[in-house]
Amino acid sequence: MLIELLAIERDPTVMSHLMATLAACEQAGAGRVKTRVVQADFILDSTGLGASLSLESQFDLVIENPPYGKLGVTSAHRRALRAAGVDVPNLYAAFLALSLIALRPGGQVVAITPRSFFNGPYFGEFRTYLLNMIGLDRIHVFDSRSTVFADTGVLQENIIFSGTRSKTSSVVELSVSHDHTDAVSSRTVPYEKVVFPDDPNKFIRLATDDADTEIAELVLSQPCSLSNLGIQVSTGRVVDFRSRHALSDIELPGAVPLIYPGNLRDGAVEWPRAIRKAQWFQPSGDKDHGLLMPEGWYAIVKRFSSKEERRRIVSSVWSPVAHPGQVAFENHLNVFHSRGHGLDHELAAGLAVWLNSSLIDKFFRTFSGHTQVNATDLRTLRFPTLEDLRELGCTHAVSQRDVDIRVKELIAA
Ligand SMILES: C[S@@+](CC[C@H](N)C(=O)[O-])C[C@H]1O[C@@H](n2cnc3c(N)ncnc32)[C@H](O)[C@@H]1O
Repeated sequence: MLIELLAIERDPTVMSHLMATLAACEQAGAGRVKTRVVQADFILDSTGLGASLSLESQFDLVIENPPYGKLGVTSAHRRALRAAGVDVPNLYAAFLALSLIALRPGGQVVAITPRSFFNGPYFGEFRTYLLNMIGLDRIHVFDSRSTVFADTGVLQENIIFSGTRSKTSSVVELSVSHDHTDAVSSRTVPYEKVVFPDDPNKFIRLATDDADTEIAELVLSQPCSLSNLGIQVSTGRVVDFRSRHALSDIELPGAVPLIYPGNLRDGAVEWPRAIRKAQWFQPSGDKDHGLLMPEGWYAIVKRFSSKEERRRIVSSVWSPVAHPGQVAFENHLNVFHSRGHGLDHELAAGLAVWLNSSLIDKFFRTFSGHTQVNATDLRTLRFPTLEDLRELGCTHAVSQRDVDIRVKELIAA
């Protein structure tokens, strides 16, 4: 059988290396491998009316290590993709989208990419497009966020996945290793445990062992979504560099507490605290007043956990008893509230206990490969009933052990 290989590369400086590699492939193939290099822009030259590359439905296999980088909404690359029928926020997703078009039905894609498109709102449209085009065959996760692409500064989990165009997969092989030098452990799971059939967000979930699957099922079987509970979650309204005029290191007339992630300590909020931030917010006009939250109990979650933290979701409770009056939350926090107002004490405390549990941490890791916790991630979690959350909030569990015991008791009840 003759293997015909087409390589596309834009950068002239790597051309000679690419050609040398392909020549070595031809030599090793002893007449069975024929290669061709095209210097072109894979995105611009394979889309649109003036497309000089006509690749559609031609390939049995696409192997890619695509470039990374955000695509601006008005960039030529992003517009080219939109014209081709899919909106993507990132170069690597653009490459993936176009390479699926290049596959013939039954053809396979194999790609090494960051894990970020598996969840989150930015990749929603792309994820739906991808999962409509291919059936996933296999996903390998490098669970080290620092070693595989240590030289590129890409600090998130990376994956290698393969998928087949126009195939309906019934199972997916999931495997994991710490990095590319480490032993691989692998398991085969039903497709519907990776992409839940009734998940409107079409998250690609990686429960890499049976315990993970059990955790995912346990959390997803909880009775309430946030909207069932009548609770909303939003990012803190104050972006400090945009509000410099209102920030102060000292108490001023009319100033309210401004809470940063650094104020969160062991489930509570220590304010003020020695964190080298101006922790007073003095509003001076309607716009500033609109950034404040009314006096009340709030459960808050860090958007970025620090390196020392074991869990990715770190939650604390803001107490209006300790600090009466309005409060401002900085943009690196997510805030749980009820239509812009506080929650009752037990509910805020119960939410924080639930979110701080090892159960939720493990669940979060089955669908998110990075340390960032967005409000959209929190909106997709499931929760016990209001009554059970309030009961959880009365337990005053502080240590991780206590939190986990209380949550376990609640689930078993
Ligand atoms: C992550 S590197 C992978 C390089 C090589 N294939 C490998 O696996 O080691 C991405 C490559 O895509 C090339 N590239 C970036 N944008 C491109 C475009 N629009 N069209 C074609 N190639 C592009 C870069 O020059 C770079 O060589």
